[in-house]
Formats: sequence, C-alpha cells, structure tokens
Amino acid sequence: MKIDFIDLQTQYLKYKEEIDSEISEVLNTAQFIGGEKLDELEKNLASFVGVRHAIGCGSVTDALLASLMALNIGYGDEVITTPFAFISSTEAIAFLGAKPIFVDIDKDSYNIDATKIEAVISERTKAIIPVSLFGQCADMDAINEIAKKHNIAVIEDASQSFGATYNDKKSCGISTIGCTSFFPANPLGAYGDGGAIFTDDDDIATKIRIVLNHGQNDKYRYKYIGINGRLDALQAAVLNVKLKHFTDEVNLRDDIGSRYSDLLEDAEVIIPKIAQNCTSVYTHYSIRVKDRDAMVEKLKSKEIPTKIFYPLPIHLQEAFLYLGHKEGDFPISEEVSTQIISLPMCPYLTEPNQDFIADAIKDN
Ligand SMILES: Cc1ncc(COP(=O)(O)O)c(C=O)c1O
Repeated sequence: MKIDFIDLQTQYLKYKEEIDSEISEVLNTAQFIGGEKLDELEKNLASFVGVRHAIGCGSVTDALLASLMALNIGYGDEVITTPFAFISSTEAIAFLGAKPIFVDIDKDSYNIDATKIEAVISERTKAIIPVSLFGQCADMDAINEIAKKHNIAVIEDASQSFGATYNDKKSCGISTIGCTSFFPANPLGAYGDGGAIFTDDDDIATKIRIVLNHGQNDKYRYKYIGINGRLDALQAAVLNVKLKHFTDEVNLRDDIGSRYSDLLEDAEVIIPKIAQNCTSVYTHYSIRVKDRDAMVEKLKSKEIPTKIFYPLPIHLQEAFLYLGHKEGDFPISEEVSTQIISLPMCPYLTEPNQDFIADAIKDN
C-alpha cells in the first residue's frame, strides 16, 4: 500500500465534477482576475469565519505584508513573533524594514508563549504576529489582552489553523487581522498559491484592498505604495467548491488527529497537546521523538513518508543572523526543532494506513 504524506488526489477525485465545472466556467467567461468567483469566495469566507471582511490575496506572505503595510508598519518599528515557524511572518516584518522581535514558544502548543510577550514590548512595538502552528490557535485571549493594554495590533498567521476554533470562535476571527494561506497542503488548499485576510475593521479592510492592488484607489491613481497581491479567479473557483465541503473535512481531520493520539498514547513519543478551549485541524500531525533520525529511517524503510516542520529556528537562519541572535537564545524552539516530526495526515487517511503508521512508530 502506498501512503502519501498528504493525499490531494483522492480529494480531487471526490469533488472532480464540481471542480472541473467551476474551472471551465472561468475559462469560458475569461474573467481571470477578480470577478464573480472571487466575490462569491470572499462572501463565503467572511461568513465561515464570522467577520465583516474577507479579502482574497496571492499568498499568506502577501497577506502578512499587506496587513503590516495597512497598519503603516515599517522602518524603526518592532513586531513580535516566534522563531519556530515558517519564514513568512519574520520575512514580511523584515521586508518592510521593521525589526522582528522573537519570543520563544510554549513547549506544549508550539505557539508563542504569551507569558513572555510583555517583557519584550518597547515604545517601538507596533504589532504581534502569533503563528497558529500545526492546526491549533495560539493563546489569543492572553495575546489580545496584552495588545489592548499596549495599544498594538495582533495579526494571526492562521495558515495552519484555518477551520480551528478558540473558545468557540474561528481562527482568523480572533484578532485585529487574521491571515491564512491556501497553499495546496493546507486544510483549505487551492491548486496553486493563494491566501486571504480577515478583519472586522472597515478602514483596515479598505486599505488592504488598495495595497493588494498596487496601491491603486482609482484607475491609474495610486494612493499608497502597494503590491500585486491579488487572488486569481481560477483559484477562487476551486476554493469555492472546497469551502462547501470544508466543515466535513475539518470533522474528519479532528477524528483522524484524535485517533492518531489514541493509537500513539502508549508509544515513546510526545503527542500533540490540544488546549481545552481549542480544537485543532491537524494541518500537520506532529510528534516529538528523542532520536529523530532513527525514527525517520525506520518509517522510511516501511515507505512511510514524514516531514520536518521546521528543522532550524528562524533566529539561526543565515538570512536573519544580522539580528545578532545565537544558539541558546530561544531554547524551546531550538529543542523542538531537533525533535519534531510530522506524520502523513489528511482527511482521507484510511484506518488501515493509520494503524500501519502507528504500529511502525511503536515497533522497536
Ligand atoms: C504558518 C505558515 N506561514 C506561512 C506560510 C506560507 O504560505 P504562502 O505560501 O501562502 O505564503 C505557510 C505555508 O503553508 C505556513 O504554514
């Protein structure tokens, strides 16, 4: 039996008729940028999350960039985020000339440790970007409270948590701005790059829309310096179909994630800890093991694919050495990055395959 790390083919075959028909509609109308498909998607995304505005964009990297730009964040400003994450949050901050200020992660959730945030807030701090990793939201209440006290914005990077809940609120709808990625491997994945920005703030939404379209507020009139960060109609068409089935897939993800945890309960690994007030969409089912190389090899010998998210924390990456950090500065991020390993996960992982993976992990 062949096990995929993420099985996108089975999902496509399940919705093939709907997806093919939506795609051919776009081809027939030749409306490739903006238009009805995007309007429909934005309306449905806003209603799914429960916010006033959802804005499609080219990727979450564009989403984070446009959000920071809409908040006038740039040279001399500081933005707090974590070093154990995908690069986009730090990349967007640095790209605008602002300074990424790292806070270590919590050892159980792998998300920003909210208890360590206040210690790094300065007069220059303008925002916090918590990255909701692996499928579970960061501790947004605690983060929002700190942000409110210091009058700064919170931008959730919810690329991996879209569909998850925090105190019954949906990820992307719990902060000043929520950003998600429709990268194909994510729970709501497009057939190429894509992302979305969510907010209840009308002024921020208006500015973000302008920034994502070259800063253009009228035909060939440019109010701000912007970017080309639009979501194209073909991706919107695919996402419209997938969003219709998304809640079912989120439920399947929850079942499969919980089943993994039951199967691995007695294994010598650390399984994900989901906070009581949270649900996870298990974008990645990630466990911690002492001897990761041996585990990767053991699973590989049984043709079980694994991935490592992420092997080197951002403060130790060559591009960010200019920040002056060294090994030991963020010990939990550093330790987790040597032990973390993600297992095959998607709504269509079969029980026999999951049993096979769990048995292989437990096999000595
Ligand atoms: C947490 C996180 N941030 C950022 C990204 C980058 O997304 P994109 O390729 O849409 O810019 C990803 C990709 O999935 C991600 O998981």
